[in-house]
Amino acid sequence: MPGPPIPIRPRRTPPPNLLDQLTRRVIGQAHAMAQIVPYVQMLRSGLAAEGRPVGVFLLLGPTGTGKTKTVEALADALHGSEKSVLKVDCGEFQMEHEVAKLIGAPPGYLGHRETQPLLTQQKLSAVTSEGSNLSLVLFDEIEKAAPSMSRLLLGVLDKAVLRLGDNTSVNFERSMIFLTSNLGAAAMRKELCPDFGFESLMESPAGASARGGLAKLASIGMGEVRRKFSPEFVNRIDAVITYQPLSAESLNEILDQQLALLEKHIRSRLEERAFSLKVSAGARGLLLKLGTSPEFGARELKRTILRKLTQPLAALVESGKVEPQSCVRVERGAGGQSLELIVEES
Ligand SMILES: Nc1ncnc2c1ncn2[C@@H]1O[C@H](COP(=O)(O)OP(=O)(O)O)[C@@H](O)[C@H]1O
Ligand SMILES: [Mg+2]
Repeated sequence: MPGPPIPIRPRRTPPPNLLDQLTRRVIGQAHAMAQIVPYVQMLRSGLAAEGRPVGVFLLLGPTGTGKTKTVEALADALHGSEKSVLKVDCGEFQMEHEVAKLIGAPPGYLGHRETQPLLTQQKLSAVTSEGSNLSLVLFDEIEKAAPSMSRLLLGVLDKAVLRLGDNTSVNFERSMIFLTSNLGAAAMRKELCPDFGFESLMESPAGASARGGLAKLASIGMGEVRRKFSPEFVNRIDAVITYQPLSAESLNEILDQQLALLEKHIRSRLEERAFSLKVSAGARGLLLKLGTSPEFGARELKRTILRKLTQPLAALVESGKVEPQSCVRVERGAGGQSLELIVEES
């Protein structure tokens, strides 16, 4: 005899996999994403510790490898916009009096009325969303800030509290704090390719040497961090994450990502006048050559695509030479330093 029917429990749709979302956006740094995501899960599950920020991360490694991008991608995944980040550009706080602006002047002091603190509870809630009450706070390029910045941060990192000039306080218990720095980046690069140029590093199979040496890179970074910051400060960081130089494979993938974004942009802006792109291997090679370097990683790639491809395309469209629904073939030009655009009827 058949038993009683098994009740069907309504299944909750699982949240989209955050780790997948992040690794698709930030290329070649999966180890970094894997260290960050568990802290979001701690908060979502209700298991995050009280009386401290949800997580404190120090992101190290060469310029243009995805440190800032990580925080933007997380903001997009959680809140639907890359801009939902409370960002402090530490380069703007190189002097002690500039750091004081973050918390505002005490009442009675000269300029009290004009100096609204930059870090307030309202600003923290302004970067949350209906989907998530987690605010992401980014102190970008922390090594550039005056020493008082790390003193100010101590309380935030430890107790999740920042006392403002007017003696009110800001609570960071629902915040993730990201500090980025390129401390040690130059020494890391030397470690990776002592005698060879950029090419040899980039052509190594999928950054194999980089992966093997990641622990070594991390220890170079930590060495410089310990020289620059006090032990108390370093002890309050949950994870120091070292980003690796991007392999040729990763740079190629980033180029794909940015070309796909360009095509999407063309489709959404031009609508029925839209056209498609076919970018040759030679053209891709030129964009990578001009837009990437060991010094700046992929930082210049977007600008290179804009100058070498988007702007010439705009000129072509403006002159009426691109029929709707056609395909624009992109080749490396005869001189080798620019791109040639050829309109093909479809
Ligand atoms: N790992 C990566 N994945 C995808 N894009 C990247 C990556 N690294 C760099 N980029 C590109 O370069 C730009 C600068 O990267 P960014 O994250 O600001 O570098 P940094 O490590 O110096 O903070 C990004 O906006 C993005 O276009
Ligand atoms: Mg950055």
